[in-house]
Amino acid sequence: MALFSLLFIFILIQHCEAEGPDPVVVRADGLCATVIDPQGYKCQEFEVKTEDGYILTMHRIPQGRGRANRPGRQPVLLQHGVLMDGMTWLLNSPEKSLAFILADAEFDVWISNVRGTQWSRRHVSLDPSSPAYWSWSWDELSIYDLPTTVDFVFNQTGQKLHYVGHSMGTTIALAALSERRLVDKLKSAALLAPVAYLSHMTTALGIIAAKSFTGEILRWVGLAEFDPKGLVAKGFLNSICHAPGVDCYDLMTAFTGTNCCLNSSSIDYFLQFEPQPTSVKTLVQFAQIYRDGVIARYQYGWRRGSTTTTTAYNISNVPQDFPLLLSYGGRDALTAEKDVQQLLNDLRGHEEDKLSLQLVKEYAHIDFVMAVDAKSVVYDGMIEFFRRQS
Ligand SMILES: *[C@@H]1O[C@H](CO)[C@@H](O)[C@H](O)[C@H]1NC(C)=O
Ligand SMILES: *[C@@H]1O[C@H](CO)[C@@H](O)[C@H](O)[C@H]1NC(C)=O
Ligand SMILES: *[C@@H]1O[C@H](CO)[C@@H](O)[C@H](O)[C@H]1NC(C)=O
Repeated sequence: MALFSLLFIFILIQHCEAEGPDPVVVRADGLCATVIDPQGYKCQEFEVKTEDGYILTMHRIPQGRGRANRPGRQPVLLQHGVLMDGMTWLLNSPEKSLAFILADAEFDVWISNVRGTQWSRRHVSLDPSSPAYWSWSWDELSIYDLPTTVDFVFNQTGQKLHYVGHSMGTTIALAALSERRLVDKLKSAALLAPVAYLSHMTTALGIIAAKSFTGEILRWVGLAEFDPKGLVAKGFLNSICHAPGVDCYDLMTAFTGTNCCLNSSSIDYFLQFEPQPTSVKTLVQFAQIYRDGVIARYQYGWRRGSTTTTTAYNISNVPQDFPLLLSYGGRDALTAEKDVQQLLNDLRGHEEDKLSLQLVKEYAHIDFVMAVDAKSVVYDGMIEFFRRQS
């Protein structure tokens, strides 16, 4: 009998260890219920709290479609870009969307949603209607949101993670790695359309936006929430769209370049969920990178050349043996090839076999997450890269 009880307790302990904190009850209107479950995948939702009080939702697709649950799958964390959220990775059919492809390739897929986006708008004491809630730039995403989500997955799975970032999802990872943060919890990072420098961006809308965020608009919108959908309502975009060189008939093209391979029904789907709000400070910080040609912390004094070496992130300081994959597009109007060259120059000391590079000539910014052929062009190679690191 004693032996039996002991065995029972042992099984109980095993069980608790395997489960970890319980997922939160899935929201009826959330990504799991509306987007992931209907495709036939298991899905879990978790809430994690950052050190500065933001409550973030994470989504997990623990296994592929119709697969048995095998423990010990390799976790991978997907980090979206600015004005986007976790939906980034789910916009095409399961055969073409990275989150589903990774789940079907036996990865344990975790999707983050940064503060201020639709599933991560709560805070322990602040309300999104107050400017105080929005008092952060991407520095805070790198310092708080990113380590919180990485730690959470690491704690839940007991394994080091692979990381996939798109656009700003690469910026905040490069900033963290340059300060030698996260290094002990990540196995590798795949950086899609990496943004460290922006001086050569060619998008007319982006340049106008960058210039606006250095001037008048700040006084107008204040340092609070930047909600693109709200701006449409306020007629702001309408006025920008009459600027020379900007054709807002196709806003996505005006902002990101001529994406080669988007499915028009995926764009309609995209517009149901995106774009997402962010803080004005985040956009100001990107405008500062554009202006100063340096990847640096948010500058409070708005003066040209106020960036100093003490506020700049030193990308050369990314550990030289940390496995990196960089994939960038020849037609990307935000991540220009010349700016990627500058980033590669910072990484010139990186160990050769730890740095994989891919230039996709026909891709622009959004192709990396939405192109109908991204699986064969980018994702299959990424999965091989991950497997080489294990
Ligand atoms: C992960 O585990 C460590 C050690 O138990 C704990 O201090 C930390 O708060 C956990 N982090 C998260 C995000 O759950
Ligand atoms: C575009 O999306 C629609 C709807 O999801 C799908 O039926 C169609 O096969 C897609 N086309 C391509 C080329 O992927
Ligand atoms: C940046 O980091 C590299 C590598 O750690 C170091 O050699 C260099 O001196 C640093 N540069 C600055 C400006 O601190």
